[in-house]
Parts: sequence; structure tokens; C-alpha cells
Amino acid sequence: MKRVLLLGASGSIGTQTIEVILKNKDSFILSGISVGERVEIIDELIKNLANLNYFCVKNEKDYLKFKEKYPKKHFYFGDDGLIKLINECPSDIIVNALIGFIGFLPSVESLKLNKILCLSNKESLVVGGDIINKLLKEGHGKLYPIDSEHVAIAKCLYGKNINDVEKILITASGGPFFFLEKEKFKDITPCDALKHPTWSMGKKITIDSSTMMNKCFEIIEAHYLFNVSGDKIEPIVDRKSHVHSMIKMKNGDIYLQVGPSDMKLPITYALFEGKPDTSEGFMDVEKNTFDKYTFYPMDYDKFPLINYAYECLKKNGNYGAALNAANEVLVDAFLNNKIKYNTISEILDKIMKVFSYIKEVNINDLIETDKKVRELTKEYIEEYAN
Ligand SMILES: NC(=O)c1ccc[n+]([C@@H]2O[C@H](COP(=O)([O-])OP(=O)(O)OC[C@H]3O[C@@H](n4cnc5c(N)ncnc54)[C@H](OP(=O)(O)O)[C@@H]3O)[C@@H](O)[C@H]2O)c1
Repeated sequence: MKRVLLLGASGSIGTQTIEVILKNKDSFILSGISVGERVEIIDELIKNLANLNYFCVKNEKDYLKFKEKYPKKHFYFGDDGLIKLINECPSDIIVNALIGFIGFLPSVESLKLNKILCLSNKESLVVGGDIINKLLKEGHGKLYPIDSEHVAIAKCLYGKNINDVEKILITASGGPFFFLEKEKFKDITPCDALKHPTWSMGKKITIDSSTMMNKCFEIIEAHYLFNVSGDKIEPIVDRKSHVHSMIKMKNGDIYLQVGPSDMKLPITYALFEGKPDTSEGFMDVEKNTFDKYTFYPMDYDKFPLINYAYECLKKNGNYGAALNAANEVLVDAFLNNKIKYNTISEILDKIMKVFSYIKEVNINDLIETDKKVRELTKEYIEEYAN
């Protein structure tokens, strides 16, 4: 029986992780959770899960309210609270389903404590992939991705040597605007961009999926997870999101992983530490599925943000932290109608040319970069708004 601490329990991945844990009660106990502002789920979970005793919320006022209501349980709040929660909640597995930079330090802390880290927060690897990999190498923590593409790649790689792989082909759905003319991108509203054709996800990743920043992040993620250079990782479009990724071997063989668009599959796979036979009962692929597949090449002219992946892997240092910070602020500004959709890439281009690049970085440099680039991006947004 493994004890699970779930960070980001109120989100899209978080709530699906709870479903998976409840479905596998003989294997997992939920011992702690963190939520941000959606604190409503806490009462319900306390009512139903006797072993759930550790909680972190974002705001102090919620913390004070819950501490008074449940004096025998342990409560924490804010960013420091997340780190205390990781240190004090009894756990074997930490699922990081936080969104954005906020997830980076919890990933670092989990690995410092040699936990099994099931990582949905891909931003952790974008911001500090080298630091995460160093912690894995020096300690005995483990990392399993919760991302459909990377689980697919891991499954395709079973029994194979990574040196025999010529290309990793990461599939993308293409998002809602794959067939829309580029000239019309300026008219895209948050409502249009939040309609993903195949996946139901949190708001930020849904926008990232429409701009292909999500695919850019996934290329970086694949590099750090599988130790493959950027020139061997390429996106390819499957509009149905049934093929979750492929690998092409040097001898010409292609392996692909097919399954429904259901994040509970990669969550299950990660919680069971990559055991291949854990997704039984979910599969529902029709016999004639293969007649219907059409793949498209990625359109780099329409979706130039993907190119940042390759630049990021060339530059390393604080490049990923800057890219992530600028993107987070721009996506938020777009969702709040402060900038137009096509302005996301325009401002991002400018930021990535002017931010202070540092080659050799430590964790504090990455925190500092995140702060500074957020401020810089907000200044650019103000300029565009005027
Ligand atoms: N959704 C998917 O299908 C999917 C697929 C693959 C990978 N991922 C990755 O998984 C991660 C989570 O995505 P998601 O779609 O599940 O996001 P989401 O639905 O927005 O959930 C994010 C979680 O983080 C919490 N949070 C946000 N800001 C916080 C803060 N300042 N302090 C404490 N907690 C905070 C939220 O709390 P509140 O909501 O309570 O404020 C929520 O629990 C992302 O890195 C994403 O790229 C997601």
C-alpha cells in the first residue's frame, strides 16, 4: 500500500488522480492534498477519506478557517506551506498536478526527499530540467511523467535501447485552430481558444495547446525524460488524439501507442510506477480504428512557438524559466481580455530577445528569472494595451 500526497487536487489532473486512487483502494491511500482557491473539495474529502490528514491551501484566510474547523488535522498555506506539506505529510508518492512555475520547487523538494514523483507539472522540467535530472542522478528518488505523449513514448521504448531510436514523434491534436487561416488568429477569443477538440483540461494548458506552446514544452520534457537531443524529437499531428506518440527506430521500424484520450490512463501508469499492465479495463479502441488515421505535418509558420523548444534545448540555463514565465503571464492576460491572441507570440518574441540570459544557473537564479521576466512581460502588456 503506497501513501500518496497530491498537489493540485482541485484541478483537472488532480480530480482525475483522486478517481484513480479511489478505484485502486488496495494499492493507494490519499494521505495529503494541496488546493489553491477551490477549497470546497476539502470538506467532502475529509468526510469520505479517514486517512487524509494533511492539507495545504493557497490563502491564509482559508487556512485559518479550516484549522479551526478541523483541529486534529494538519493545515498549511501559501508557497512555503507547500514545501512544509511535502516534508511533513507521510507519503511514498507525490503527484505534482500544480500548474505553472509554482510546481517547480515542490518537484525539487520531492526529489530531495527521494520520493516517487509522478509529474504532471511539465513546467518543472521546462524551468529546471537539468536540476531535476541532477537530483535524480544523485539521490534515489524516481520520476514518472503524467503526460499522455511521454507515457506513450515510455511504452514504445519497452525492451529497446534509446541509442537505436532515430526519432521520437510526439503527436499533437493540432488544437482548435489547425485549419484556421493565420490572418484570422487576431480575432480568436478566449472562449474560442478554450474549446479543445479532443481533451478536457485546465484553462492554461488548453490555451497552450491551441498556441502549440504545450507541444513546445513537451519536446523539452521528452528531452529531459528520455535523454534524447532536440533534433531527434519532432511533433506530428493526429487530429483524433488516439495515437499518443511514436518512435522510429534506426532500422526503419515505427512503434506507436494507441488509446482513448483519457488522462486517467497516464495517471494510472505513473502511480503504478510504469508497470505496463495497469491500464486494463480502460481500453476501448474500435477494430476498424486504423482505417481512419490521417497524420499531418506540423505547421511551423502558423504555430511558431514550437521553435522555442529547440532554442531552449540549445541555450539551457535560465532560458526555459524565462520562456515559461513570459508565457504564463501572456496566457493570463489573454484569458482576461488584456491582449489579443496573436499578441501572445509577438510579445513572447520580444521578451526572449531582451531578458537577461544566464548560462550557469542554480535554483535561486531560476526563481529570480521567473520574477523578473513576469515583471518585464507585464510592462510589455501595458505598452500594447496603450
Ligand atoms: N489537464 C490535463 O489533461 C493535462 C494533461 C497533461 C499534462 N497536464 C499538466 O498538468 C498540470 C496541471 O494541469 P491542469 O489542467 O490539471 O491544471 P488546473 O486544472 O488549472 O489545476 C491546477 C491546480 O493547481 C492549483 N494551483 C494553481 N495555482 C496555485 C497556487 N498559486 N498555489 C497553490 N495551488 C495552485 C489549482 O488550485 P485551485 O484551482 O484550487 O486554485 C489546481 O488544483 C499542468 O502542468 C499541465 O500542463 C495537464
